[in-house]
Amino acid sequence: MSAKIISGTEVAKAIREELKVEVSELKEKHNVVPGLVTILVGEDPASQSYVSAKNKTAHALGIHSEQVTLDADTKEEDLLALVDKYNKDDKINGILVQLPLPKHINEAKVLYAIDPEKDVDGFHPVNVGKMVLGEQCFLPCTPHGILELLVRSGVETSGAEVVIVGRSNIVGKPMANLMLQKRPAGNATVTLCHTRTKDMDAHLKRADIIIAAVGVANMIKADQVKEGVVVIDVGVNRIGMTDSGKAILAGDVEFASVKEKASAITPVPGGVGPMTITMLMKNTVQAAKQAAGLI
Ligand code: GUN
Repeated sequence: MSAKIISGTEVAKAIREELKVEVSELKEKHNVVPGLVTILVGEDPASQSYVSAKNKTAHALGIHSEQVTLDADTKEEDLLALVDKYNKDDKINGILVQLPLPKHINEAKVLYAIDPEKDVDGFHPVNVGKMVLGEQCFLPCTPHGILELLVRSGVETSGAEVVIVGRSNIVGKPMANLMLQKRPAGNATVTLCHTRTKDMDAHLKRADIIIAAVGVANMIKADQVKEGVVVIDVGVNRIGMTDSGKAILAGDVEFASVKEKASAITPVPGGVGPMTITMLMKNTVQAAKQAAGLI
């Protein structure tokens, strides 16, 4: 069997078209323009490219976007003061502080300082708590994007054995929680594997759906998965450079071999990545509607 390729690029494009219409209606009917600020500390090339893609996408959808880049040696108190300034800025509905932050800055302290009503990343404990309880909140963008990919690709999750590899706060933990909830792309039986898992292969082998978010290039191979599995690959690993200086990317799953055994698989690039950015835009529009009292 050769797998159906789940194109995040295509699904993201469809959602962006919907958002573009929504943003234009918000402006026409309510004079509301959603606003997003991205804050990057330092010069990590991967972070620079993510942040620039986020601003470019916002701009293309008619979202007001501001981009702040700070020196790597910026003091924690100065970053906190900047977050506070944007908490009070009515033009800004969403605040995104790109992670990771330099070691001398307490990441949790900065994330907790963002007004939960502007926390379009869904990382503030108020939003994490609401997510666990199944209440209306900002869902973290990568897991949210994966739910949309599964729904829009017609993957049945109810009763499915879902194995998630990786227990990060950004992907693994929220993903596990969302997929066991009573909601679309939920109702699954969830196993969360991590570095201390004893028999990873036994878990992978019985999975109907594998979600890999570990950050190790090509870690999961064809002989570890069952025939017909659905694979969502969150990994974006830089494995080299083209002659023209472009990064060569690989996922956490060995695409070439696993696609021959899976029923559906996301590619890297063009899978989960475009969805993450798109869900950030969706959250920003949601934040603007909430601020305007429209939802
Ligand atoms: N770094 C890697 N992924 C993310 C994300 O989704 N949001 C933020 N703020 N930083 C990240």
